[in-house]
Amino acid sequence: MLNVSIVGASGYVGGELLRLLLWHPQVHVAQATSARNAGKYIYQVHPNLRGRSSLQFVHPDRLEGCDLLFLALPHGEAAKAIERYAGLAPRLVDCSADFRLRDLAAYKRWYKDDHAAPTWLERFVYGLPEVSREQLRGASYASGVGCNATATNLALLPLVRAGLVDETKPVLVEVKVGSSEGGAEASESSHHPERAGAVRSFAPVGHRHTAEVELITGLRNVHMSVTSVELVRGALATAQVFAARPVAEKDLWQAYRAFAKEQPFVRLVKERQGIYRYPEPKILAGSNYADIGFALDESTGRIVSICALDNLMKGAAGSAVQCMNLMCGFAETAGLEFPGLHPV
Ligand SMILES: NC(=O)c1ccc[n+]([C@@H]2O[C@H](COP(=O)([O-])OP(=O)(O)OC[C@H]3O[C@@H](n4cnc5c(N)ncnc54)[C@H](OP(=O)(O)O)[C@@H]3O)[C@@H](O)[C@H]2O)c1
Repeated sequence: MLNVSIVGASGYVGGELLRLLLWHPQVHVAQATSARNAGKYIYQVHPNLRGRSSLQFVHPDRLEGCDLLFLALPHGEAAKAIERYAGLAPRLVDCSADFRLRDLAAYKRWYKDDHAAPTWLERFVYGLPEVSREQLRGASYASGVGCNATATNLALLPLVRAGLVDETKPVLVEVKVGSSEGGAEASESSHHPERAGAVRSFAPVGHRHTAEVELITGLRNVHMSVTSVELVRGALATAQVFAARPVAEKDLWQAYRAFAKEQPFVRLVKERQGIYRYPEPKILAGSNYADIGFALDESTGRIVSICALDNLMKGAAGSAVQCMNLMCGFAETAGLEFPGLHPV
């Protein structure tokens, strides 16, 4: 059994890591940290875990050595203490944005700050198995992924890989997101009367995840807008792209099938009938699947590419566990088989 610990285990991503790792067949959860909840049972913060584990939170200062450490900390905290964490475990999976980018100038541009541990950037493999599977096998350090970036990347990659994107035209992406993206810390904007029922333009321009989309797709003409909607979990990316050459629907089927067939957690959703004709985050809550689909306007060459996922799963903890599986030589899908709920 692999001994793993989670730093930041009282947060939403940390809670999802606990839910996945406590029932992973090859993992033993050694420690779960929280400064504010030290001494409490984990179910007192994550009530879904009641009766399933007698683990208690420990203060981060009492963190001990283990085989693999998950970091689920607010932005910047992992980078500040990376030497300490690397001294405690030979393998790290970080869920934050601290080690996702490779380029310091891009980091400064999007995060408006100098990186606290620049020499560590190149040691991390980008933590999305759909793009870095082979580098993750046996790797020591995996970065996190942005949830909105992942929805956007998985919507765009089938088209990018098939050479179907006209890069002279802007690629426009709208991502609709749920409230758990903001983490467990309450704020004025998360107060129920203000957040409930909202369709709020959160980042019409300037969303930081644009940097990850540029890095992963190689596209330089991507423009993202992010809107908060009435969901707790879930993100839906709708990308609009113009085709680089005349295409028919069968060309797109070929491109999307070629991409999805390599990926255990990517499903192609495009039906002529029924309610669920395109990807929808509602039915993915708790699941590690990313559903992708598309529609084509043949008269203009406009392709609308859609990806739905659970931001806490494929967009964070699910991808992190998938990375651990690859790093440690486990089956890639181990501990991640939950298919989601319907109806929900
Ligand atoms: N929420 C999402 O959908 C999502 C998706 C993708 C990636 N992420 C990334 O994942 C990370 C965690 O997000 P989250 O939503 O889970 O945040 P969160 O709910 O606010 O949780 C943060 C956790 O970090 C702990 N913490 C805070 N400062 C710390 C420090 N200096 N040292 C050790 N522990 C500390 C907190 O507990 P104590 O203060 O009690 O120790 C808490 O357990 C973020 O970097 C976020 O960007 C989040």
